[in-house]
Amino acid sequence: MAVAPLSLANVQGDILFGLPKQTESFFFFQINQADAFQTSLANLVPLITTAEQTKGNIETIRTFKINNSILPTQGDGETVHPDVVSVNGVNIAFSAKGLQKLNINPDGLNESLFTRGMRNGSEQLGDLGNGTGSNFVPKWEDVFLGEIHGVVLVAGNNRSTVSDRLADVKDIFKDSVKEISTVIGDVRPDDQQGHEHFGYKDGVSNPAIKDVDGPFNLGQTVVDQGIALFGRDNDTTIRSDWSLDGSFMAFRKLPQKVPEFDKYVPSSFLVITTAGTQEAADLMGARFVGRWKSGAPIETNPTKDDPALGADPARNNNFTFPPKDQSKCPFAAHIRKMNPRGDINEASIIPHMVLRRGIPFGPEVSAEEKATNTTIQERGLLFVCYQTSITNGFKFLQQAWANNPNFPEFEPIQSGFDPIIGQNNTGGLGPRFMTGAFAANVSQPLNLAAQWVDTSGGEYFFSPSIPTLRDVLARNGTVSR
Ligand code: HEM
Repeated sequence: MAVAPLSLANVQGDILFGLPKQTESFFFFQINQADAFQTSLANLVPLITTAEQTKGNIETIRTFKINNSILPTQGDGETVHPDVVSVNGVNIAFSAKGLQKLNINPDGLNESLFTRGMRNGSEQLGDLGNGTGSNFVPKWEDVFLGEIHGVVLVAGNNRSTVSDRLADVKDIFKDSVKEISTVIGDVRPDDQQGHEHFGYKDGVSNPAIKDVDGPFNLGQTVVDQGIALFGRDNDTTIRSDWSLDGSFMAFRKLPQKVPEFDKYVPSSFLVITTAGTQEAADLMGARFVGRWKSGAPIETNPTKDDPALGADPARNNNFTFPPKDQSKCPFAAHIRKMNPRGDINEASIIPHMVLRRGIPFGPEVSAEEKATNTTIQERGLLFVCYQTSITNGFKFLQQAWANNPNFPEFEPIQSGFDPIIGQNNTGGLGPRFMTGAFAANVSQPLNLAAQWVDTSGGEYFFSPSIPTLRDVLARNGTVSR
């Protein structure tokens, strides 16, 4: 069937551009009563922020920043000046169980990982848990072990804008839904805007989408629309018609042990050297990530951070990794595992690309936590990514690359685990190692004493197009299911 060209007015805003945010709430719900819910949904649809509106909001924020001489933030989506530009965005997505509740067969999306739900695939993701096979129970928060039918994302310039908008959403739903949990993320303050809790700039590299994004930055991979949107170029999976212009959203709550990480990074460096300067410790951390805290890539700047480079989207992705060579960037470094540009050819990487839209959660590290090198209050990343295949996207990145000590497989020595997100938890918390951590001796393995990123829950969701929300999922549906 010939499909009309993409209209940004039909797509939810978080998928293609990322809802601008200083803060974001994830309202997880169960559907109490399908009919009442579907009627409410018809009233919610006008509140859903489209990609077209999101693009406009991002332009408004950029103009405001230019006019007020505020440096642009390149982060996971545009960050908003908290007090001045009032903006909010609302999106909605459904789990397989949520679709079933609405009498829609999730198999129409033709992705068994989605139909089974993230919990049932958590053992393969390497999550810590008890039991094996169908008896496996991940060590997740209770709310994520139970049934979740959907999530409303509300993003905005400050907590009060977001809570007001969320109140509007709840008012529309009334008793047709039961709140399971609301998880709140906040962009970090001041000079840490756009940085995740370990301190590294996040959202530096995302693929650009043909005929949606542009102008493209040097080194940025340009992908077909079908990487992110069902039914578009190069999405060859057969699916039900109502999938068109929707996407899979993978959500993971990932607590980070920041004071413990900050203690380990310099001390691991001291294992083989006595030159324990701050600069040397910073290099070790940068070799875990593949970028300095500013976002500058270590492949081009292997000895010293360059904040101007980190902040410059025209240059900060303009590199590839030389195969078989980890002198500048370890094979296991997070960004090399997640995008092994140069190690394998681009055509083999593109099917695994995802659009990342996460946000940090939790408070800044306190003086007491710093002094004791111990996490007292939970903080981390609310990881969100969009893709048309969970098998090739999120799940593949986690299982086949981050958790696989032999990937990239044609390198002269084993790479080890992604030190940031690699998991080796089959049968309990397993040991992890990497090579390439020590610039002076790249074949020396480093035992990664702990795992600093845990997983405390998550789910796979379907983020439908606006026409599908309006005409298929809402009550006054006109399209057959
Ligand atoms: C708490 C957990 C995580 C932290 C602290 C983290 C941190 C980072 C940082 C600092 C970057 C470099 C800047 C950038 O390009 O955005 C990055 C890149 C990236 N991360 Fe993560 N990340 C986490 C979880 C994940 C997960 C779970 C995945 C997917 C399974 C993932 C996939 C990626 C990808 C695809 C890139 C871009 C690689 C590139 O194109 O160069 N990350 N991450």
